[in-house]
Amino acid sequence: MPLVDMNDMLRHAYEEGYAVGAFDLVSVDFLQAILDAAERCRAPVILSLAESHFEYFDFDLLMPAVEAAARRATVPVAIHLDHGGSLDSAVHGIRMGCNGVMVDASHEPLEENIARTRAVVEMAHACGVAVEGELGYVPGVEGEDAERHPGQIAYTTVEEARRYVQETGVDFLAVSVGTVHGRMKGVPRLDLDRLAEIDEALHLPLVIHGGTGLSDEQFRALIARGVTKINYYTALADAAGARIRDNAADQGRRGYTALVDGVREAIAAEVERCIRLWGSADRADELLARARPWRPVHHVILFNAEGLDEAGVEALFAEGRRVLGAIPGVRHVRTGRALREGARYRYAWLIGFAHPAVVDSYREHPAHVAFADGRFRPVAPDRVSVDFGETTD
Ligand code: 13P
Repeated sequence: MPLVDMNDMLRHAYEEGYAVGAFDLVSVDFLQAILDAAERCRAPVILSLAESHFEYFDFDLLMPAVEAAARRATVPVAIHLDHGGSLDSAVHGIRMGCNGVMVDASHEPLEENIARTRAVVEMAHACGVAVEGELGYVPGVEGEDAERHPGQIAYTTVEEARRYVQETGVDFLAVSVGTVHGRMKGVPRLDLDRLAEIDEALHLPLVIHGGTGLSDEQFRALIARGVTKINYYTALADAAGARIRDNAADQGRRGYTALVDGVREAIAAEVERCIRLWGSADRADELLARARPWRPVHHVILFNAEGLDEAGVEALFAEGRRVLGAIPGVRHVRTGRALREGARYRYAWLIGFAHPAVVDSYREHPAHVAFADGRFRPVAPDRVSVDFGETTD
């Protein structure tokens, strides 16, 4: 199963001096294109889903496809929530299958940014999930003309970065050193000395947002100064758009499939160019040998009910699905009845955890304690439970 721990992935990149592409995807075409390119290059890759794009696709509907694609890949993959706006976004992203989350409170004053980020880190780390925070402000919007969003760049300072990392516990830091999200006129001017100082002070994987529009030379300079994750979207969207425009110019091509013909290849070509430039090509096998595989856990409880009729059990199940399903790190709560009369156990809970860390954080979570002690255990003295770590490759 080539979904791997994102911390292991980016630590490897940091130690070996290359960067992994975090390509934002907005459709199944993007998903397939990104993975086609990563497979062709034998490169680790991050499938990134930006909350600002959720108006273009149904996140909950797309995520099962993202996860299925990641699990059948033969190169190491991480799934990342990009620019999550709140603690709830992070909880939901993890529930849907992200094994890395970004909390973006970079537009807030430092104290507020630290407080919001720390809350996400506490929750996510208890689920085994890595966290990216952002300090300083990278203006612009992915996929749009940067000049239409003329926010001021706020550069990350070394002192604030040191404090932010120490007080939040983030695993990766997105820095602002002159890049801008979206389509730019000209090439941005980067503050590479500032980046080198931040790298020297922190020694942790650094992230660059707004990858589109940087020169080859600039990418190399960023990677030489600790950048190990590069967020990239607008150029992919533009490659797809150019292909569709060419198709549309051909009068014979009228239907949807004719118009999107070649879009995947156009996106994949740009992804491949980036992967080769950023040094992540041919890193897949060494990383797979070192990185911890990302393995979900199935928490299984079989039980017989005492003092509850079938309607009472159904009410218990419904409450459990709602209450337990909201605990961070829980992916789903499924309930069932034995098909055969006389089975040793009549009822079952099948609860999916994102990661083995959730076994402990779930057990201690106040909502679980209240439900287990107050509702479930009193009516289910005859029960057995086991946590199964998934073993499929
Ligand atoms: P670009 O769209 O400028 O490549 O930036 C992407 C990004 O930073 C996503 O978080």
